[in-house]
Amino acid sequence: MSLKIVLLGYMGSGKSTVGELLSSQISFSFFDLDHEIEQLEKKSVTKIFDENGVIYFRKIENKVLDKIINSENDLVLSLGGGTPCYYDTMNYLNSKENIKTIYLDVPIPVLVQRLFAERSTRPLIEKIDTQEELTEFIGKHLFERREFYRQAKMIISVADQSPTEIAARIETLL
Ligand code: S3P
Repeated sequence: MSLKIVLLGYMGSGKSTVGELLSSQISFSFFDLDHEIEQLEKKSVTKIFDENGVIYFRKIENKVLDKIINSENDLVLSLGGGTPCYYDTMNYLNSKENIKTIYLDVPIPVLVQRLFAERSTRPLIEKIDTQEELTEFIGKHLFERREFYRQAKMIISVADQSPTEIAARIETLL
């Protein structure tokens, strides 16, 4: 049976960077869900949000997730920040024995620091002007989302470790 390692967490938590490193360490293929959606739709996530709307995005996201999860290969997959919060995704993923869901739990100040400079490329926070507003937004958003994230089979609390250290730590826990 194939093994699928699924990384989840808030925007800016390092899912893609850690996922890519982990996949090369253990010689699994790597998939980034946002990237797969962009390939299928032939446009950026921001453009999909702008032109097709969030409901359309969530539907496509779920469809692409399903396809990857039901493939035959061993793989590492990084979800989008919102993926676990729609379509009963956590129960679906956790019900499969060959899927390991891993939550990268990153403190809010670290997320704010990472996301503030790149907010213009992220549709959910592109209109935020100040770091204070971003802190407040993430605080509220995480309060809603943690309930889903915390259903992951494994939780990795990230403080100041590098992506390489986090990937190495995950490998020891697999
Ligand atoms: C989203 C996170 C993004 C992307 C989209 C929506 C979210 O993915 O899927 O902008 O709802 O948190 P990343 O977490 O990879 O940035």
